[in-house]
Order: sequence, then C-alpha cells, then structure tokens
Amino acid sequence: MGLCWGSPARDEPQPITTRPFNSGTSSNYSKNLESSVASSNAEKSQFSEAANGSVGGSYFSPKGQILETPNLKVFSFGDLKIATKNFKSDTVLGEGGFGKVFKGWLDEKTLAPAKAGTGMMVAIKKLNPESVQGFQEWQSEVNFLGSLSHPNLVKLLGYCWEDKELLLVYEFMPKGSLENHLFRRNPNIEPLSWDNRLKIAIGAARGLAFLHTSDKKVIYRDFKASNILLDGNYNAKISDFGLAKLGPSGGDSHVTTRIMGTYGYAAPEYIATGHLYVKSDVYGFGVVLLEMLTGLRALDTKRPSGQQNLVEWIKPYLSRKKKLKTIIDVRIEGQYSSKAASQAGQLTLKCLEPDPRSRPSMKDVVESLEKIEAIDKPKGIQNQL
Ligand SMILES: Nc1ncnc2c1ncn2[C@@H]1O[C@H](COP(=O)(O)OP(=O)(O)OP(=O)(O)O)[C@@H](O)[C@H]1O
Ligand SMILES: [Mg+2]
Repeated sequence: MGLCWGSPARDEPQPITTRPFNSGTSSNYSKNLESSVASSNAEKSQFSEAANGSVGGSYFSPKGQILETPNLKVFSFGDLKIATKNFKSDTVLGEGGFGKVFKGWLDEKTLAPAKAGTGMMVAIKKLNPESVQGFQEWQSEVNFLGSLSHPNLVKLLGYCWEDKELLLVYEFMPKGSLENHLFRRNPNIEPLSWDNRLKIAIGAARGLAFLHTSDKKVIYRDFKASNILLDGNYNAKISDFGLAKLGPSGGDSHVTTRIMGTYGYAAPEYIATGHLYVKSDVYGFGVVLLEMLTGLRALDTKRPSGQQNLVEWIKPYLSRKKKLKTIIDVRIEGQYSSKAASQAGQLTLKCLEPDPRSRPSMKDVVESLEKIEAIDKPKGIQNQL
C-alpha cells in the first residue's frame, strides 16, 4: 500500500506522493513530485456487477467514512494481538509504506484468533502511527476491497479500527510479492521460470482488466511488482488499493487528481498533468512486464547513467529481435522461443506507448499474453486448456 517521502538515493522504485516520511520502510521512499489538483472523482458512486468477478452493492463513502461492508469482519485489536502473538517480531512478513505486515492465525470458520500454527494463516497489516495519510489509504483499501471480489485481487477478510489502531486482515499469500522473486537475490529462492512469469503476468492482467471493466472503471494507480502477491501456485493477486480511484464518468476520458504513485511505474501523462486515465494503469503494467522480461528494476540508481530508468534504456531494444535476446533475463535462457519473446517485447512496447490512447486495453493485453503462453505449449497441452 502506501507511499511515503524519504531518502531518494536507493535502487528501488520511489513512490511519488505527498505523504510524509515513514521510517523503516522496505521499498518506499519518495520525493514530493507535485501537489495537487483536487480530485474530480465522484466520492459517492455505486458499484455494480461486472464480468468474472463480483462487485458488491455498497457505496463509496464521503471522505472520512467507512462503508458498510457486510462481507468483512470487524476485528477487535485484542483479537489481532492474540492472532499475532502480540505482534511478535518473528511473525513479521515484511514492511511497506503503511507499516509492518504480520503473520497471524485465525479459526477458519469463525475467524476468531487461533493459537500460532493452528487454523488458517493470515497476513495482518498494521498502520504505522506516524503515517499521516495512512488513514485515507486504509479507508480506500477497506472500501475498494470490501466491494470487489475476483480471483486475481487479494482477499481482504476484515479490518480493525480502534482508537488510533488501524489494521487490515488479508488472506495469506505464501509466495510473497513478485518483487521478492524478481529482485531479491536470495539463493534459497529459485529464479522465476519463463512459464511462471507469464502465468503471473496473465493473472495480474486479468485483475486489472476486471477493475477497468467494472461499471465504475476502477483505476488502480499503483501497479508495481511489490503489489503483486503470489499464492502457492504462482497465481497472482493484486494488493494495495490505497491509491485506487474511481475512473472517469459522464464521457470524460480521465480524472484529474493529485499525483501519487511510484517513480519508474507512473505513466508520463499522469506525471506531467495529473490526468489519470484507465490506460495509465496499462503503462504501469508495461513497466512490470519489462521487469519480468529483463529481471531488472524499473529504477535503479546503482546502474550507470543512461541505464537507471529501465523504460528509457530498454525500449529501443524491444522491437529488434536480435537485440531483444540480449536484454532478456539470463536466468530464463533456453526457456522460451524467439517467437514468444518477440511477441512479449512487442506487447510491452505497446503498453509503454507515450499516448495513452495508443495503448491496448487490459482485456487485449490478457488475450495477447494468452496467445504468447500458447506458443511454447505442446499441442496436446493446449487442447486441454
Ligand atoms: N497477504 C499477504 N500475504 C503474505 N505476505 C504479504 C501479504 N501482504 C503483504 N505481504 C508481505 O509484506 C510485505 C510488505 O507489504 P506492503 O504492501 O505493506 O508493502 P510493499 O508492497 O512492499 O510497499 P508499498 O507500501 O509500496 O505497498 C510484502 O512485500 C510481502 O512480502
Ligand atoms: Mg504493497
């Protein structure tokens, strides 16, 4: 979720935001790029049914309110304390701009806190009290994820709001984030195979396509490798709706909003004007595709100058078959055909078109990725799909 200000000189993607610095974050530090034009989004709009997933009938609340979300459990702080052994350090799964994420245990049926190691494992995100804008993001997460349901969106089980304590309880995603797999050079983690990269790309693309085709066209706004979580079978689920926005309505092409997101992933038109299009998400998706193809971070200040911004550096290579081979992650050498790689390069290039209108829709992206996946599958397997 969240984004914060902080030290800029790191090799990880930098959030663009107006949120003050939170100490101790893993991948979150940012510069205040720009401030803001008030959002023209309707604050109160109704969601309705959408294909391949469901959108509850709840309303987006005026600022400062939590929606009625009948499918979410309201946890007491005491319950979550028990579930995490009093937020013991050995239960920490990770840390982001919002705060720490703890592993916890709940009874599968009642969602009552369970003894460590029994029942169902969950991930519990606890807001860092120093986070100034955290409340808005927390609220946005509850309101969006409480209303949306799809196999490629992480499931929010419930929340806790007690005094200053704000927490979110999610399904546990055993393989953690895509970022961990792509960039953390842990010898105990096998490099992601080409097939798994494609599987993850397809899952995440389906999640975005679902958001974009829902009645209100939800724009996710913070698509990046750290926000794609993986289940035990590398099924991808999008997490962190803290920055999500309802899309344009009444024939408008975009919403105008404060510029927030992550350096290296945010679309150029959005950074330049604050105009946020549904297709701004497609750009972010293109950046993640490029990260998966190359195994390199969107931004890395440790790379030589001219190579620090992955898109600027690699874009010219994507349309040239021979050059393309030289930039694909060596860890997946021999796992893909040149036809599949070339089509993946072309698709990435389309997603990164400077003009949002020239980018494909996420539905088209899903179809293209499925075709690429089919290229290297033996015929027999294709027929079973
Ligand atoms: N549902 C989950 N299941 C398992 N691990 C999780 C879950 N949610 C988060 N994590 C772990 O906690 C880490 C921190 O997540 P968090 O979303 O707070 O920060 P982030 O995604 O790294 O950065 P940002 O603040 O920009 O979102 C993740 O990298 C992941 O390893
Ligand atoms: Mg996150």
